[in-house]
Amino acid sequence: MSSPKDVLRKNVKMIHGCPMVYAFTSNWERIEQFQSRPDDIVIATFPKSGTTWLSEIVDMILNDGDIEKCKRDVITDRVAMLEMSAPGLSVTGVENLEQMPSPRIVKTHLPVDLLPKSFWENKCKIIYMARNAKDVVVSYYHFDLMNSLQPDPGTWGEYLQKFMTGNVAYGSWFNHVKTWWKKKEEHPILFLFYEDMKKNPKGEIQKVSSFLGKTMSDEIMDRIIFHTSFEVMKNNPMVNYTHMPTAVMDHSKSPFMRKGIIGDWKNYFTMEENEKFEAIYKKEMSETTLQFCTEI
Ligand code: PPS
Repeated sequence: MSSPKDVLRKNVKMIHGCPMVYAFTSNWERIEQFQSRPDDIVIATFPKSGTTWLSEIVDMILNDGDIEKCKRDVITDRVAMLEMSAPGLSVTGVENLEQMPSPRIVKTHLPVDLLPKSFWENKCKIIYMARNAKDVVVSYYHFDLMNSLQPDPGTWGEYLQKFMTGNVAYGSWFNHVKTWWKKKEEHPILFLFYEDMKKNPKGEIQKVSSFLGKTMSDEIMDRIIFHTSFEVMKNNPMVNYTHMPTAVMDHSKSPFMRKGIIGDWKNYFTMEENEKFEAIYKKEMSETTLQFCTEI
């Protein structure tokens, strides 16, 4: 087992053409050979797209809105991240999942091509949540400031450039969202948007519960909406990542639960950066029907 200093602030490492968090890359066969179960529920996202939010919503739905049950453990042990591996952790994401009772909720940021085959073979239900690229890059930049498993982000300007060229962990946001969007033509994938969840949580949570074959009363729905609101999650130690060691996540640099809004990018992009971004965006997104909202 390597020591923390071998993996902290290391550059991404390429895995089958995709830049990957260095610490996750050891023994990649464990991911490729992962055995899914037919009732697994996969939550797939590009990083910083609302994964934790959706994870808590799904766990709440499966537990019929029982808040105490959802406080049984921290989010990383209720919804294990498939590719997770780091020194100091007693188990990898795969080992964690292997010990979990069904139905398991599996978190992953993997691009569609790297998802273990077994999930496709078992036709597992997948919920993909996407968030507009400009808010993702702002959130990702702040995350990389506080999360030492990521390389040092450098200046905001440098980071934006790396993001636009797909030189961040999990690669190109454009490729990620486009290929997952396309995949839903042939696999049971519920494709959601962070912005829709923000604007109409009731409608979006309803979509998730229908997809999972669950019905719920208005009372349970209201409880889930409240319990998964940004303010409540920010103050909930079971989901706000304050359980992580400071050597890995330093919330004094930037909290994991940062702002949780649509349109924060306007506070970071200069006019020039925005023009450059828009030009790349137009080119990259020209052949997809996928559309995003970037402000309220
Ligand atoms: S990770 O590390 O990739 O799993 O991060 P992820 O959970 O995908 O994304 C973190 C961002 O989601 C925001 N967040 C929320 N927004 C609205 N409502 C709720 N309940 C919520 N929970 C988390 C979180 O604040 C991060 O976004 P930013 O823009 O940085 O605030």
